[in-house]
Amino acid sequence: MSDIKKIKDEYLDKLSGDLNIENVNKIKTELFGKNGTISNLFKKLGSMESSERKNFASDLNLAKEELQEKLNNKFQEIENKEINSKLKNEKVDVTLPERDINQGKIHPVSQVIDEISSIFSEIGFSVEEGPDVEKEYYNFTALNTPDNHPARDMHDTFYLDDNKELLLRTHTSPVQVRTMLKGKPPFKIIAPGRTYRSDSDQTHSPMFHQVEGLHIDKDINMGHLKGCLNYFIKSFFEVDKIKMRFRPSHFPFTEPSAEVDIGYELKNGKIVIGEGNKWLEILGCGMVHPNVLKNVNVNPDKYQGYAFGIGIDRLGMLKYGINDLRAFFETDYRWLNHFGFDPLDVPSNYRGLSR
Ligand code: PHE
Repeated sequence: MSDIKKIKDEYLDKLSGDLNIENVNKIKTELFGKNGTISNLFKKLGSMESSERKNFASDLNLAKEELQEKLNNKFQEIENKEINSKLKNEKVDVTLPERDINQGKIHPVSQVIDEISSIFSEIGFSVEEGPDVEKEYYNFTALNTPDNHPARDMHDTFYLDDNKELLLRTHTSPVQVRTMLKGKPPFKIIAPGRTYRSDSDQTHSPMFHQVEGLHIDKDINMGHLKGCLNYFIKSFFEVDKIKMRFRPSHFPFTEPSAEVDIGYELKNGKIVIGEGNKWLEILGCGMVHPNVLKNVNVNPDKYQGYAFGIGIDRLGMLKYGINDLRAFFETDYRWLNHFGFDPLDVPSNYRGLSR
């Protein structure tokens, strides 16, 4: 019997036994590893007489194929055995109750910010961000706010150091400054975010949200401002008609300045926007003051435009019928469950929490 046949029979025999995965792996290495029996026989081929080589090579290839097939079958057999024994031993108890999934909700403020951003994006505004901890310079000085302005007062503003150089931004207007300093006109941006003032009652919270708007170009005027706000408010409240009034006001960084109220009515305890004779102030706005443009290296003889700052939380309160601003930030899970929004992709096995 040739060596090849002997080896082949020996290993086929071994592989017929009751083996585990380690045994089979070991046999595989013994045969086909770097120094394996079959691998070594292949190495011998090179030094053989050609008459001898032909038969030897064909025997060897056949043996190799046979052994490889046997090995593969053995691996498969072991794997099947394992699966079968698992199926036998690990039973699934289909009568067990399913686990509860606690699906988070989107906070109304996040929802409103998304809605605002998408409405303004549609009319060409891009979204900018700025830091909550702001430099006094960006929050006040660059915005043409004089040293003695009451907004700078300690009673109004949270300062973070004794020199009053760092503070929690009191409005989103510093993002106007940051945006204009890092780019070249035209500018058409909104900047939603958190703002802070030392104030707390049913309609004021020390931390609240604003969205800043800024549109600077060669011939932007107050008509554009009115049109833009009108469009925004109608889209946001999903109504065809709104009542909106501009009241003359004063901000150091705009001239002229206005505050804007929208008309609403309470019908059966529900707020209806665009009707009635109640007014709610929702934003401040105006034409950007030339001094502000100068501070950010924009030539006020060539460029002009408007800015506005809208109270996001108030918009949310109005649209979704929430009557206490403080509840927004009390992190009450039941409140969030009631007023929060479902994310778009709710898993199919979600049963809801408190419906
Ligand atoms: N920053 C102002 C505020 O917080 C709002 C505002 C923004 C007014 C932009 C005019 C222009 O009250």
